[in-house]
Amino acid sequence: MKKATHLASIAALFVGLAACQSGANSGQQLVLPEGDATAGQEAFVSLECTACHTVSGLDLPAAEEMGPVTMLLGGNVSKVKSYNELVTSVINPSHKLARNLFKQEIAQNGESIMPVYNDVMTVTQLIDIVAFLDSRYEVVKRPSYRYPVYTY
Ligand code: HEC
Repeated sequence: MKKATHLASIAALFVGLAACQSGANSGQQLVLPEGDATAGQEAFVSLECTACHTVSGLDLPAAEEMGPVTMLLGGNVSKVKSYNELVTSVINPSHKLARNLFKQEIAQNGESIMPVYNDVMTVTQLIDIVAFLDSRYEVVKRPSYRYPVYTY
């Protein structure tokens, strides 16, 4: 009897988790049409993202007016940056600030200093920029450690 209750509560937990995922902000992957990385690079330059960003492996023309930070995009990362993350970073820059150590440089009053381009950038430019940036990231596996297995 006790075991059955236990199982029932585990089942309830799973139902609960499943229910959590069905909200408006469920963890569903965003599926974008295929972007054009070359057009994305052009949009990145013409929208002057280069005022604050350099891109790994590329020497992009500088923006007319340089921003207060220079932050590298692309390069080696330990975890795949999903389209989800890239799109979120561009359309909602203040969503995730905490990882950065230099918070005072990248945010003012909790808002990212990165401009919101939502009224300026076309959806096609967004898709292309994401394809462009996605192509500049390289996933590098962290060395993994094998823990000894003790048998007593
Ligand atoms: C005025 C400076 C500034 C400009 C201009 C700017 N950004 Fe940013 N961007 C930032 C800062 C600061 C961050 C880090 C904090 C954050 O996420 O807002 C950032 C973060 C990002 C990230 C997330 C990087 C990561 O590793 O999580 C992406 C992607 C990005 N920017 C793309 C763009 C694109 C595309 C443009 C042009 C359309 C642009 N940025 C223009 C300042 C800027």
